[in-house]
Formats: sequence, structure tokens, C-alpha cells
Amino acid sequence: MKKVEVSLENRSYDILIDENLILKFPVYLEGLLNRKFLAIVTDTNVENLHLSRLLTTLKNAGIETKVLSIKAGESSKSWETLQATVDWMLDNKIERNDLVVAFGGGVVGDLVGFAAAIMRRGIQFIQCPTSLLAQVDSSVGGKTGINTSHGKNLVGAFYQPSLVISDISTLKTLEERDFLAGYGEVAKYGLLGDYEFYCWLEENAENIRNRDIHALIKAVAHSCEMKSAIVIADEKEQGERALLNLGHTFCHALEAATGYSERMLHGEGVAIGSVLAFDLSAKMGLTSQEDPTRIKKHFEDMGMMNSINNISGTLPNADKLVELMFQDKKVVDGKLNLILAKGIGKAFIARDVDPNLIKDVINNSLAI
Ligand SMILES: NC(=O)c1ccc[n+]([C@@H]2O[C@H](COP(=O)([O-])OP(=O)(O)OC[C@H]3O[C@@H](n4cnc5c(N)ncnc54)[C@H](O)[C@@H]3O)[C@@H](O)[C@H]2O)c1
Ligand SMILES: [Zn+2]
Repeated sequence: MKKVEVSLENRSYDILIDENLILKFPVYLEGLLNRKFLAIVTDTNVENLHLSRLLTTLKNAGIETKVLSIKAGESSKSWETLQATVDWMLDNKIERNDLVVAFGGGVVGDLVGFAAAIMRRGIQFIQCPTSLLAQVDSSVGGKTGINTSHGKNLVGAFYQPSLVISDISTLKTLEERDFLAGYGEVAKYGLLGDYEFYCWLEENAENIRNRDIHALIKAVAHSCEMKSAIVIADEKEQGERALLNLGHTFCHALEAATGYSERMLHGEGVAIGSVLAFDLSAKMGLTSQEDPTRIKKHFEDMGMMNSINNISGTLPNADKLVELMFQDKKVVDGKLNLILAKGIGKAFIARDVDPNLIKDVINNSLAI
């Protein structure tokens, strides 16, 4: 089993990564449970596919459970579902010292983490992420929250879990598109800060696509190590944590342009956005022209989108997309700060980037 430590003083926790962890769940609860009781929140898909194994394991260990299953999908990151979740916890008399498990993808993790943060002013929670995106990204680092009519993730809290249990075996049942979208974030780690890891991903593209357990354990563990190191250095995103947003300002504009719909999933937008960030870096002479070409090829090998024109349906033009980029919450004093790179694995925060150069790379991507 791989163990990654997130050292944040009294908010420190471990991330456990291996196959079949659900079947050994009670072992890892030692020292965390004040009574033999667990509240579990999941979504309807994960409930159907994986919940019974978890419940059986807990029952055999004499641990009583209460389960809430929310509707699968992004629409559950809402005020309504947050209220329903907190009310459910209160109805079921979840106490200040009880533990709640977020058992699902990033939606369940973000929602339950936020509910735990405000429930009785904070109860402990465990992330048990079941999607690749959640295992490498959303379950680590303590960002929790919901969406509102004003935008995504605008209401929430920094609230760290007490433990993360990443059972790699659960990834076998993910839809191909969700799996590959999660991979967009995995590749991002190599691209932003670890050239060797990126080369390993290229060499293991086929194994990863085939969901080879050992390749996935390494990919998830290494991603978590990188995210953990960045979060330890900058928990509240005052500086370096912004590097994790490689490709994201482009992605957020494309998500807005496609109405946060099935036309483009978040991780797909991260892959396209990362290519654009390298295109722009090459255009500015920061990195070689071969880098964006190489990255496009890798995403193609993985069977993923790698340019804007892979997105189905019509899209706004480059002017409008740049305008959308300027609505990103990372814009400060009207200046667009972007994550660019001086080579694969060497991302940095570029301040006040010229919008005309951005338009050029978007136009090229639209034309490919
Ligand atoms: N908190 C953070 O730091 C952070 C970082 C990145 C993303 N996020 C958030 O994460 C969310 C996206 O996460 P996601 O992609 O996991 O979305 P998700 O939770 O909606 O999961 C995607 C789909 O996969 C299904 N699913 C989950 N596990 C499965 C499994 N093992 N087998 C089969 N189906 C399974 C879900 O039911 C859903 O239909 C977004 O809301 C995003 O804002 C948060
Ligand atoms: Zn992301």
C-alpha cells in the first residue's frame, strides 16, 4: 500500500492508496471512531456499484451505518442538496465526535466536506474517492463547496479530511470518458512540475488506458504526492498552489461556453487548456515548439480531446473566449494571470498576459 502524508500541523492526515481497500476499511478507522458508528454519503451510481461491499465489511466489524445517497451529477453540488445533507445528519443524530464518509466522486467529496465543515461547527470526515479525478485531485487539499447560480465553487470552506482512502479497484467501473477526464488532471501534474513523471506517463499510456492496477496505483500516488507538497507549501492558495491551475483558466472559459454540459467534461477542458498553455508558452518563446506538439500527441494516444475543435457543436469566437477568461476568479485588478511553462515540468505564474497572444493560440486551436 502507498501512503502519502499531508502534513498540516493539527490538520495533518494520510492518503492511503491501494486495491481493495474497501474490504479492509475498518482497519484504517482505528483511532478515528469514537463509537462503532459511521455516517456514509454516496451518490446513486456509486451506491449501485460499490456500496454493498463497504456495508458488508463494516457490518462484519460490528460497525453500525447510516447511508444517504444523493442524485449522481454536478447538480447535487447545490444549496438544496447541502441543506438536505445537513438535515439528514441532524435527523440521524450525528454527534460532534462522529465520523462521516464521502464515498463517491468529486461531487460527493466537495458537498460532504462542506456539510461536515458546517455541521455542529465541524465534524470529522473521511474522503473515500471513487473516481480518478477525485483520487488525484478533489479529495486532497481540503477545498470543499457547492455551486450557486452565480457560478461554480463560489461557496465553500477550506476543511481538511481526517483520512483519505483511495481504493484503486473502484476505478474499474468508471465510464471511459470519466476515467479519461480524470487523467487530464494526472497529466497536469507531470506537465506543471515533474518532467520524469510526464515521461513515465507517456511510456505507460497503454497500461493506464487499460487500467492496469499497478500503473494506476503509481499514477494516483505520485499525483497525490505532488498535490500534497504544493498544499503543504500554500494551503490557502496565496501563491504556489495556483500552479495546480495549469490549463484551468482556458478550461473555465470553455466550460462557460459549453454551459457546463456533457459537451466537455472538466478534465477534458484541463487537457485542452494545458495544450493551449503550452502553445502560448511556445509562442512567447518560453518553451520549445516541440513541447505542445508532444503533449497533443500524448493526449491523442490516450484517446482524449486535445484541441478546442474536438468539442462538439458551435463555440464562441476567440474574442468571446478571451472575454470569458477575464471573468475567471483568478483575474486580479483586471489583469489576467496565467500558468505558463518554461518546458515540460516547469510551470510558473505569468502575470498580466497579453490577451492578443491568447487570441492567436485560441484561433489556431479552433482552426486545427
Ligand atoms: N475540491 C477540489 O479541490 C476539487 C478539485 C477538482 C475538482 N473538484 C470538483 O470535483 C467535481 C468533479 O469530480 P468527478 O469528476 O469525480 O465528478 P462526479 O462526482 O460527478 O463523478 C463523475 C461520474 O462518475 C460516477 N462515479 C464515481 N465513481 C464511480 C465509480 N467508481 N464507478 C462508476 N461511476 C462512478 C459519478 O456517479 C458521476 O456520474 C466537480 O464538482 C469539481 O468542481 C474539486
Ligand atoms: Zn481541475
